[in-house]
Amino acid sequence: MGQTPAVPNHIAIVMDGNGRWATRRFLPRVAGHKQGVESLRRCVKACVDRGVGVLTVFAFSSENWNRPVEEVSGLMDLMVGALTREVPRLSKDGVRLHFVGERGGLSEKISAGLVQAEAATAHNTHLIFNVCFNYGGRWDIARAAAALAERGEPITEVSLDREMALSHVSDPDLFIRTGGEQRLSNFLLWQSAYAELFFSDKLWPEFDEAALDEAIGAFQRRERRFGKTSAQLSSGAERARQPA
Ligand code: IPE
Ligand code: IPE
Ligand code: MG
Repeated sequence: MGQTPAVPNHIAIVMDGNGRWATRRFLPRVAGHKQGVESLRRCVKACVDRGVGVLTVFAFSSENWNRPVEEVSGLMDLMVGALTREVPRLSKDGVRLHFVGERGGLSEKISAGLVQAEAATAHNTHLIFNVCFNYGGRWDIARAAAALAERGEPITEVSLDREMALSHVSDPDLFIRTGGEQRLSNFLLWQSAYAELFFSDKLWPEFDEAALDEAIGAFQRRERRFGKTSAQLSSGAERARQPA
């Protein structure tokens, strides 16, 4: 008996494995990224349906510029296409978009598209959807520290946290990486301090609703102790110690 376990409020995903998905089918890598967009559309819908509050995905890392030129330009073209095609659909589902990452270095077309998509969905309330594009965890921390230093403000955990790119949402509860690798690859280094990690062998284009439910189920069976003991959690002592 007991309460129904809660769905994680904030899910973060490293969508990895598009290239391998394509290569296994003797297709160009960009075909895998294209299929990855389909998978993402399905995942966003599933998160809305399950009452997830925030979804944050890693779409393009600061380091991905080092890939072959044709792959990078294929990814940029996909972004342009997604901005035109997907935004109306997302907005209809009540999704609010935020783009997180370094905007300098992106084409004029993409930068303008990001601003427009954020403005067009700003009134939506069902799901906050953060797309990390040209993002790196170290970039985020260094940039936040530099902004504080420039204003002559003290650098503390609270002030840094307020300055970081995801300050509009709470920290991720569940961090999923698909594609079988078990590493963070510079994603949400600061914010994932207490995220529950889940690694799936499924390649991102194959990550469906059932795979998402498996990750959520694993999360619900974890005990999040935040430095306390298991006994403290079950006695409810932790609640007594929480500041009002
Ligand atoms: C992740 O899939 C998507 C991006 C990095 C843009 P990959 O392209 O890294 O796929 P694999 O890891 O090579 O299979
Ligand atoms: C991480 O995947 C970046 C994204 C999913 C956008 P990578 O495929 O770039 O990571 P590594 O290189 O295997 O660590
Ligand atoms: Mg990869």
